[in-house]
Amino acid sequence: MNNFEFKNPTKIIFGKNTIIKLSTEIPKEAKVLMLYGEGSIKKNGIYEQVTSALSEINFLEFGGIPANPEYAILLNALALIKKEKITYLLAVGGASVIDATKFLASAALFNGVEPWDIIKNKIRTETAMPFGTVLTLPATGSEMNSGAVITRKETGEKLGMGGPGLFPQFSILDPEVIKSIPPRQIQNGIIDAFTHALEQYITYPIEAKLQDRFTESIMQTLIEIAPIITKDTSNYKAACDFMWCCTMALNGLIQKGVPTDWALHTMAHELTAIFGIDHARTLTIIAPSYYQYKFENKKEKLAQYGQRVWGITEGSIEEKATQAIAKTTVYFKELGMPIKLSECTQAYEGTAEKIAATFEKRGWNALGEKKDITPSDVKDIITMSY
Ligand code: NZQ
Ligand code: ZN
Repeated sequence: MNNFEFKNPTKIIFGKNTIIKLSTEIPKEAKVLMLYGEGSIKKNGIYEQVTSALSEINFLEFGGIPANPEYAILLNALALIKKEKITYLLAVGGASVIDATKFLASAALFNGVEPWDIIKNKIRTETAMPFGTVLTLPATGSEMNSGAVITRKETGEKLGMGGPGLFPQFSILDPEVIKSIPPRQIQNGIIDAFTHALEQYITYPIEAKLQDRFTESIMQTLIEIAPIITKDTSNYKAACDFMWCCTMALNGLIQKGVPTDWALHTMAHELTAIFGIDHARTLTIIAPSYYQYKFENKKEKLAQYGQRVWGITEGSIEEKATQAIAKTTVYFKELGMPIKLSECTQAYEGTAEKIAATFEKRGWNALGEKKDITPSDVKDIITMSY
């Protein structure tokens, strides 16, 4: 196992009827900006629950944050934060709203001229405006990590930011919010969490037995509850497991002491930036081709994953690894995910070259756990994914 440090300061408040606890988590003297998305919370009762919990607190609202949070819109929220001298942010939503809030928490205390520089210049956020979250969509783990991904349509960019100042102070996880989530977003959530597990596991063996088993258990639980929660979002037991799996898949724990990959996400974000495809769907488009392309690097962990998660016991390491990729691909399809770019757009010609050129320009020459994926490899992997 590699050396590591682990600190996660986010307080998790988990369970039924917990949104009311906002009233005790947010400091009484705070001036709060409540941030939310494009309206789902006004249809499912979450808005009422949050605003009634905030009845003793001085707060304003900023709604309309779109999926894949857009920089130009966030600048309006930033202006409001400054004008109204807001001191505390509250995200009510999925990761698009939470990530937007993280960006704003950082930008509110940023001294530079153009807040995009935080992202462009990879400035780590050490201190930020304090914020909490009410999670309405399990998927990314943003509710318990310090990363965010922001989109800028004007330049066609979708880029990450982060830093120790960007952990939420608290996150309220009430699995009852899942009831109103449409099937497409449930599928996306399961797949995003599953892929986060893959990114931190399908690398090379390092004999970190506990981390491997943490990660396998997240994948096994997601596989077990997927058919239940996709059919019936009001199944509370399955909703609890789904929500907690998503948080645990990307709160930092399973990546400690082990190599991690993230090339898949890095490539996939470009497909959202170019075509607007849902985040989870960009991952399933690239993953099968990617694991095939990096087979030699990854075959031992692919075989272990195949054996322990999918019960593949017969054959050599290569055979098990090949079957593991096949099983994963079938799983993606069963959950209604695309596995080729051509399922989402016919305008795919030239995409691989475009993404490779972007990576070249950014100096992203060494992706993956072995830092051996170049822009030329990226071009080949994306081409395989057409
Ligand atoms: O905007 P509203 O009207 O609220 O509707 C949302 C949105 O349309 C809807 N929704 C959310 N909760 C609901 C609900 N509908 C009904 N009932 C509810 N309870 O779901 C739609 C998608 O929401 P969004 O927040 O965009 O989804 P998700 O949580 O999957 O976030 C995706 C974003 O997170 C980034 C992605 O790249 C993408 O920008 N990621 C963030 C990460 C992180 N911070 O750690 C890691 C991930 O890998 C990912 O990159
Ligand atoms: Zn993801």
